[in-house]
Amino acid sequence: MRVTFKIWRQEGPDDKGVIRAYEVDGLSEDMSFLEALDHLNELLVLKNEKVVAFEYDCREGICGQCGVFINGRAHGPHDNITTCQLHMRSFNDGDTIIVEPWRAASFPVIKDLVVDRSSLDRIIEHGAFISAKTGTAPEANAIPIPKDVSDRAMDAAACIGCGACVATCKNSSAALFTSAKINHLNTLPQGKAEEHKRVAEMTFQMEIEGFGSCTFTGACEVECPEGISIINIAEMNARVVKSKLLR
Ligand code: FES
Repeated sequence: MRVTFKIWRQEGPDDKGVIRAYEVDGLSEDMSFLEALDHLNELLVLKNEKVVAFEYDCREGICGQCGVFINGRAHGPHDNITTCQLHMRSFNDGDTIIVEPWRAASFPVIKDLVVDRSSLDRIIEHGAFISAKTGTAPEANAIPIPKDVSDRAMDAAACIGCGACVATCKNSSAALFTSAKINHLNTLPQGKAEEHKRVAEMTFQMEIEGFGSCTFTGACEVECPEGISIINIAEMNARVVKSKLLR
């Protein structure tokens, strides 16, 4: 299989950046998208050229490191998968594939396709944890939790923090990410002790990181590889009002 990659190349944060084209032959349709980029990099090494910087860790759809825009869509042409889970059989022989980094002021480009997403980490640092001492792991059924409550918490906990929601949103809002992290903990009894503090501090941090406001266009939900629902954002907004009244 032969494709032309058009890839954003940027030497560093202060470089202007440019799209460069690379014709790549010898690809298999069974290769993952990242393996195809690996193959391109091997060819660049042989030509003594600089390899394309891109991020990954697990390559199993778990860590959220690998996100890029592919032909204008976060994580490529399919719903509910990450870039590392995308395969070359999703493209046709002879295709041109445009690959760009996440675009958001709060995600500055470090190099090529790698962006700095530490703004999301700082939101996490402001409350996406439980500080109560819990001792050793309790027996799983020691705290009865209704099935619908645990389901809602687990659906929110599925967020892998890839940043596709921010990069896709026309406002670069981190509302889907932040709301998933808040609702995951605030829905469960273990997170109740700090629920109002968590909402206030995480949403405040979200604002000072420079993310835009949510205007409910729903693009984040469409491009989220984990299918996190924007209902989480509505729930977070209600929690913000409640936390202001009760704190
Ligand atoms: S590399 Fe971990 S989700 Fe893609």
